[in-house]
Amino acid sequence: MAAQYPRDDIMSDNEGCPVKDWATDYDIFDDDYVRDPIPVWKELRETCPIAHTTRWGGSWLPTKYEDLQAMVRMVPELSSRAPNVIPPSPEMRAELIAEAKQYGSETPPITADPPEQIAYRRMILPFFTPKAVEPFRASTEALCHDLIDGFIASGSCDAAVDYAQQIPPRVIAAMLGIDPDRGADFTEWTQGILELGQTQPELRAKYRKIIREFFAELVVERRKEPGDDMISKLIACEIEGEPLSDYTVIGMCNLLLVAGIDTTWSSIGAAMWHFAGHADDRRRLAGDATLFGTAIEEMLRFYSPVTMARKVTEPITMGDAEFIPGDKILLNFPAANHDPGVFDQPDDVVIDRERNRHIAFGVGIHRCAGSNLARMEMDVALRVWFERIPEFELSAPEKVTWVGGQVRGPRSVPVSFAT
Ligand code: HEM
Repeated sequence: MAAQYPRDDIMSDNEGCPVKDWATDYDIFDDDYVRDPIPVWKELRETCPIAHTTRWGGSWLPTKYEDLQAMVRMVPELSSRAPNVIPPSPEMRAELIAEAKQYGSETPPITADPPEQIAYRRMILPFFTPKAVEPFRASTEALCHDLIDGFIASGSCDAAVDYAQQIPPRVIAAMLGIDPDRGADFTEWTQGILELGQTQPELRAKYRKIIREFFAELVVERRKEPGDDMISKLIACEIEGEPLSDYTVIGMCNLLLVAGIDTTWSSIGAAMWHFAGHADDRRRLAGDATLFGTAIEEMLRFYSPVTMARKVTEPITMGDAEFIPGDKILLNFPAANHDPGVFDQPDDVVIDRERNRHIAFGVGIHRCAGSNLARMEMDVALRVWFERIPEFELSAPEKVTWVGGQVRGPRSVPVSFAT
C-alpha cells in the first residue's frame, strides 16, 4: 500500500468518525481502543500486521514483535527526530526546524539519531544505573507511606490520582535537584505535553514553553552555583572538549522530567487497576512476596504504556507496507508484547511468568534510560501498598478512565478497602 497523504495535517477528514476498518483507518484515540486495544492488535496481527491510517497526520502501526525488533534497528532510515505519535502543529514544526538548525536536537538523546545520540545517551546513563537509583529507594518508601497515611482511615481513595500519580514526579524531582513539592505542577506539565498536548497543539506549545523557561532559570542559577544535582552535572558535561549549550542542557532536563512521570505513573496505575479487579492475582501476590519481581515484569508486559514514533527518511518495504520519506511509524511496543509468536498465553496475565522478554522499555539504541528507576518505583509502590492494604477492590468500576496515544494508562481508579 503506497501512502500519499498530507503528513502535516493534524486532522484528517475522518477525524471523529467511528473506525470501520482498523487495517486502513485505525484511530489510536478511539475510546474502545484506548480502554482495551488487545482485540484490535490480535485482529491486525493476523490480517494486516502493519496497519495504516490517515488520521492524526497519518501513520503506520506495526503489531508483531519481530517487526518492532527490525524497525528499531533501521537507523537512520527510521529517524528519532520526531518521536511523538502525533505531529506538531505547522507553527511548532517550523519553530522546531529553525531551532534544530541553530542548536541541534531538541531533547536529546530521545530526539537524536547517531552519531549525535550516542554521546548524549552516555551522559545520562550513569544517573540511572541500579547503584545510582538505589539511594532513592528509602525516600520513595517514605513517600508511599505518607500518601497512604493520607487516605487509609477513609477506607477509599483513587489509586491512580491519590497514589500512582503522586510518586514519579517527586522521585525524579529529587534526582534532578528541583523542588519535589511542585510535583503537581510537573504532572500538569507532563500531561500537557504527552497526553492532552498530543491532540491539542496549543497545550503542547504552552507546556513546552513553561518547561523550557523553568529549566532556563535553573540553568542560569546552577551555572553560578553548581550543586551535586543532575542539572549541575549536565552543565559540567562536554562533547569533544566543548561544553553543552544551554539549549541542550534545558532540552535534556525537559526529557528527564517528562519521560519518567506519565510513563511510570501509568504503569503503577495499571498494576493497581489490575490487582483491584482481579482477586485471585491480588490474593496470590499478597500471600507470596517472592512474586513481586515477576508480577511487575508481567504488569509492564501486559499494560505496556509507551508507544514511540519514528520518521521515515528513505523508502522501505516491509511485507505489504511501503514507507516513504516523511511517513510516521508508531513503534507499538505494547502490541509486540502480546505477540503469540513470542509469549505463551499472551493475552492472559501470568504473575509468575518465567520467560518474559517484553519490550515495554523499547529496545535498541534508544532503550529506556530510566528503566532501573521505573522498576524501583513500581517495586516500592506495590510492596508498600500491599503491606498496608493487602485487600482492596474497585469501588466504582464504571468510573475507571483510561487515556492513550503516546502513553496509555488509567487516570482514575476508585478503590475501597477495610480500615
Ligand atoms: C514504566 C515506566 C517507563 C516506560 C514504560 C518507559 C518506556 C520507554 C521507551 C519505550 C523508550 C524508548 C524510546 C524510543 O525508542 O524512542 C524510553 C526511552 C527513554 N526513557 Fe523511559 N520509560 C519509563 C520510565 C522512565 C523513567 C523513570 C525515566 C527517567 C527519567 C525514563 C527516561 C527515558 C529516557 C531518557 C529515554 C531516552 C533514551 C534514549 O533515547 O537513548 N523513562 N522509555
